[in-house]
Parts: sequence; C-alpha cells; structure tokens
Amino acid sequence: MGRKLLLEHIHVPGINTLAVYREKGGYRAVEKALKTMSPDDVLEEVKKSGLRGRGGAGFPTGMKWSFLAKPEGVPRYLVCNGDESEPGTFKDRFLMTHIPHALIEGMIVSSYALGAKTSYIYIRGEMMPQIRIIENAIQEAKAAGLLGKNILGSGYDLEIYVQPGGGAYICGEETALLESLEGKRGNPRIKPPFPAVAGLYGCPTVVNNVESIAAVVPIVNDGGEEYAKIGIERSTGTKLISASGNLVKPGVYEIEMGLPVEEFIYSDEYCGGIANGKKLKAVVAGGSSVPILPANLITKTIQGNPRLMTYESLADGGFVSGTAMGSGGFIAFDEDQCIVRNTWNYTRFYRHESCGQCSPCREGTGWMEKLLYRIETGTGNLEDIDLLWDIQRRIEGNTICPLGDAAAWPVAAAIRHFRDEFEWHIMNPQEAQTRNYGLAQYADPLEPVVS
Ligand SMILES: Cc1cc2nc3c(=O)[nH]c(=O)nc-3n(C[C@H](O)[C@H](O)[C@H](O)COP(=O)(O)O)c2cc1C
Ligand code: SF4
Repeated sequence: MGRKLLLEHIHVPGINTLAVYREKGGYRAVEKALKTMSPDDVLEEVKKSGLRGRGGAGFPTGMKWSFLAKPEGVPRYLVCNGDESEPGTFKDRFLMTHIPHALIEGMIVSSYALGAKTSYIYIRGEMMPQIRIIENAIQEAKAAGLLGKNILGSGYDLEIYVQPGGGAYICGEETALLESLEGKRGNPRIKPPFPAVAGLYGCPTVVNNVESIAAVVPIVNDGGEEYAKIGIERSTGTKLISASGNLVKPGVYEIEMGLPVEEFIYSDEYCGGIANGKKLKAVVAGGSSVPILPANLITKTIQGNPRLMTYESLADGGFVSGTAMGSGGFIAFDEDQCIVRNTWNYTRFYRHESCGQCSPCREGTGWMEKLLYRIETGTGNLEDIDLLWDIQRRIEGNTICPLGDAAAWPVAAAIRHFRDEFEWHIMNPQEAQTRNYGLAQYADPLEPVVS
C-alpha cells in the first residue's frame, strides 16, 4: 500500500467536520507552526520538501514563495486556486468536499509563512456544494479560534474569504483569476510583472493550487526532509490523481510519486485495469492539455525501467514520445475510442474557453475545431491534416497565456501518434459518417470557414 498523506482518513465517518478532523490529528501543523516556528522556518521546510505546484506547471512551491516581494507597509496575499476546470481533473473538488479542513489548515500555515493576513480561496462558481462546504469549514475554524484575531494566542491574525469563480476555464490561469477576484473579466495579464511582485490589487501575491496548499500540512507536521523521502528525483511526496475513462475503477487516488504507470492502471489498489476486458489504446496522463500517448509509449520501459508517475519520467522523450504530469487528470482510452473525435471534443472546449485576447488562440482554436469536425464527419481531405498541424504550430508559444499551448498540444500529439486514424476518416467518409453517433447535434452551427 502506498503512503497516504492527504487522504489517509478519507474513510473515517465525519472527517469533513472539525471535531473528527482534530481527533485524527488535524490542526497540529497550525499549533506547531504558529507556536514553535518562524515564518521562515516554515518556508525552509517547504523548500526542503521539494514540493512542486500541483496545479499543472509543477513549479517548486518553496522557490515560488521565496520570490514574494516584501515591501514595507504593503499587504501580501495568498490566493488558493480552486477553479479546477481542466477536463479530466477533479481531485481538488474531491479534497474540498471530503476533507475541507485539510485545505483550511494548509491555508493558515501557508499564509503564516508568507506573512499574509488576508487570504482567498477561489472556487469554480459551478461548484456550489464545495463553496458551501469550505465556507462552513471556515466558520467552524473561526469559532474554534483557529482563524481570525490572535490565532491560538500566537498573535497572528488571518481572515480567509471564499470567492466563487467566474465560470470559465481561463479563470484558473493565475493572472486571469486575480483579475476575476478583483471583480473584472477574467482575462490573463501580460507578464511581467508576476503576481509575486504585483498580484492581487497590485500587491505581492502567491497563487497556489488546492492540493499544493494542503500538502504543506504533512510537510510542517513531519518535516520537509521526511516528505522528500517519498518519490524519485525532483518528484517528491504524494500526488492526487483523478482517473477517468475506460477504467475498471475510475476515481481519485493518492499515489506515491514514482509508482509505475502500468501498476497505476492495472493493479487492484488503483484503477483495476481497462473496463470490459478491452485493451488500452492511449492515455492522457495529466488533464486534457497534455499530449496523448499511445499505449506502447505510456507503458514503455525507459533505460530498462518502467515509465513512472513522476514529472521526469512522464516527460521522457519530450513531446515527441513523452507527455506531462500536468494537474494529474489521468484519462484512459480503450481500443474502441476514436482519437479524432476526442481531439475534436477537446478542441471544441478550448475554442469555447479562449478569452479572445490573442489572435493565434482566438482564431486558431476555431479553425482547428472546424477542421477536426470536418475530418471526424468524413468531409475532410488529406491536406486538412497538414493544415491542422500548421495551425497548432503557429499557436504554440505565441500567446499571452498557456491556454494557447494547451489547445495546440493535444492536436499535435494526436496527429503525431494517430495520423492513420485521421487518414482513415478521410479515406472512408461513409464509414466515418455512420460512426458519427449523432455528432451533428454538437456541431457549431456556422459553416466551416476553412475550405
Ligand atoms: C488555462 C489555464 C487554466 C488553469 N487552471 C488551473 C486550475 O484550475 N487550478 C490550478 O491550480 N491551476 C490552474 N492553472 C495553473 C495556474 O495558472 C497556476 O500555475 C497554479 O494555480 C499555481 O499553483 P501551483 O504552483 O500550486 O501549481 C491554469 C493555467 C491555465 C493556463
Ligand atoms: S492564449 Fe487564449 S486564453 Fe490565453 S490570453 Fe491569449 S486568447 Fe486568452
């Protein structure tokens, strides 16, 4: 059994309440940090832990915290990113629903380390149950003297506010999130300046993912070195993975970094294999924006070792034969799934969610969607595949925020690894149309503009 640091008590009845959470050792990290450690001590432990941001980019959390500017007389903020809108990713929602105090405790300890007196938890607006659960947990913590003025007699004051999100995927991008938190339209900002220097209301701000913040609790409790003993290379600790697709047991799992990918898919402790006795065709390992990999590349051995659930191992081979850990949204596809259709579906999502500030993203996602729709419905031609390749290449790296890259990468990987399926749709239009499962009802009502 892999070690569990975040979900250890997930099956304990009432673990969502303050009373049971404390019975199981909850809020020890707050006691320890506020009574026996300085803010810099907490920062040091986070650095030692090697924790990397769990929101997708994997940036080292301790390093991010150490970049926070500290001008005299200017407030600093911690903002928790609970927007979680990436298709395939649902681990933060799970944590907030079932163990809300893990997030609140992490927020208190992290805010203390950063010197923030006001912090925000930004939760996707559609997640009303989670918004209520977290608000309720804040009230419980406040009533117990764990939040508000002079927490546990330590002299440290902290208020945490919940902000329902703007209902758009782009509001998960950290600068768009800050715009939205300020009451504006969630458009990403041009960087620099980075939030560590000029973030919320122009003040120094750290934005961290829900899971990253919750992970600070075991780091403070057990020490950063202990946390870093789990995992391999620069992938330390445990990671929440939301597993979906054609798996026997989809769900949210806490894994130790370094678990072989095949073990995650096939062992009974985790996903239990591919549903209905089918074969694995492909995997999207880290949420819809990371490159899809065919089964032989996801389960391949690397220098004699199996591919592992680590940032490094998943990325081995670059985007030619590797992928990324992303936000941990693991989607498995069985042999019956259509990669073209799936790519069209993702692209449709990115086209819809583009904020429209940059032409390559705004126009390119629309063009790609229309081309993919055409190919999927058997009305494309072979040149469309090269055109699609060309469009995605012109989006990547040419936009204000990484949503453009996130839209381009799935298309590039699908063509790279499954070109034969694109060609099949074009060469077998009749069959492609009959396999179409009423796709037309989803189609953009506009005629394709690319001809
Ligand atoms: C389009 C887009 C959507 C994103 N959505 C999320 C999200 O829902 N949750 C999240 O934590 N990070 C999201 N990110 C990443 C954030 O910009 C940021 O890197 C992250 O919140 C930092 O936290 P971490 O360092 O703890 O990972 C998104 C990025 C992009 C470009
Ligand atoms: S890349 Fe797309 S989502 Fe990001 S700022 Fe540009 S248009 Fe907006």
